[in-house]
Amino acid sequence: MFPETRMRRLRNQKKIRKMVKETKLDVSDLIYPIFIDENIKKKKPIESMPGQFRFPLNDLKNEIKEIVDLGIPSVILFGIPRKKDKVASSAYDSSGIIQKAIGAIKDETDDLIIITDLCLCEYMDHGHCGVVEGESVLNDPTLDLLSKTAVSQAEAGANMVAPSGMMDGMVGAIRNALDDSRFSDLPIMSYAAKYASHFYSPFRDAADSGYKFGDRSSYQMDFGNINEAIREVELDLKEGADIVMVKPALAYLDVLYMVKKEFGVPVAAYSVSGEYSMIKAASLNGWIDEDKVVYETTLCIKRAGADMILTYFAKDIARMLKTG
Ligand code: PBG
Repeated sequence: MFPETRMRRLRNQKKIRKMVKETKLDVSDLIYPIFIDENIKKKKPIESMPGQFRFPLNDLKNEIKEIVDLGIPSVILFGIPRKKDKVASSAYDSSGIIQKAIGAIKDETDDLIIITDLCLCEYMDHGHCGVVEGESVLNDPTLDLLSKTAVSQAEAGANMVAPSGMMDGMVGAIRNALDDSRFSDLPIMSYAAKYASHFYSPFRDAADSGYKFGDRSSYQMDFGNINEAIREVELDLKEGADIVMVKPALAYLDVLYMVKKEFGVPVAAYSVSGEYSMIKAASLNGWIDEDKVVYETTLCIKRAGADMILTYFAKDIARMLKTG
């Protein structure tokens, strides 16, 4: 008790504050999302995400070099295909945009872990994450397409696949398909607790993955639920997920904390497009110090339980960590 105990003793000097800091960010925590668009010739700014771009295949080089030079270990790829249809055929085409992008990145570097977002919404003409009949998104027929896509991405050289469609049985189906096709060592990062969040809207503009009808609440989770997140994670782990993800991050730190505590497995957090754009907008208005807020929010996501963080600020954070 006071006056014997004085919490401020450890706060008075910068060096001591550093010594007792419980959570530290490291560049190895970061995963950077990249959008690759088959329909463009020059890199194109994403309006709702200032500072982010869609890249054409032929203009990826500088971006990849910058990421590697900053020491960022991993990227996650999202593709915008030329052709969309009812069976997402461009998703599992061996010369699809993601398959080609993996090759293009591998030509530049062996130094990046390439994760592929494994979902169908960008490749479906209706924009939903599965096969649609009437206005329903069908679960079981979707598993087949996801499995084919996983194998195709693995064959193209992906180092990890990240299924994000929130279909039941998806992780197990993908694990089986990969194992049957000589990819038993390829890890799965499952978007296990993915909420039907309104923070994704800038992404849908970025990845051209908005839906033509309804919404995603028949497959993504209700944001009021946390026990359900634990069940989702438990099932994905049983089906063979190696890393489980909580998404979004900032409004979901309790979920992140629970998942890490309950299972103790590697956990990823996705700080999504809306989180990025809110910080950007406030900073562009001069209302907050962008770098300081980015550092704080990302560190706090780690404190809550994330071992790795998917963030559009990865390059900025890497730069900050470099310059101290
Ligand atoms: C689906 C997918 C989405 C995001 C990542 N993968 C969008 C959605 O579920 O509608 C959102 C990412 C973000 O908002 O940054 N393929």
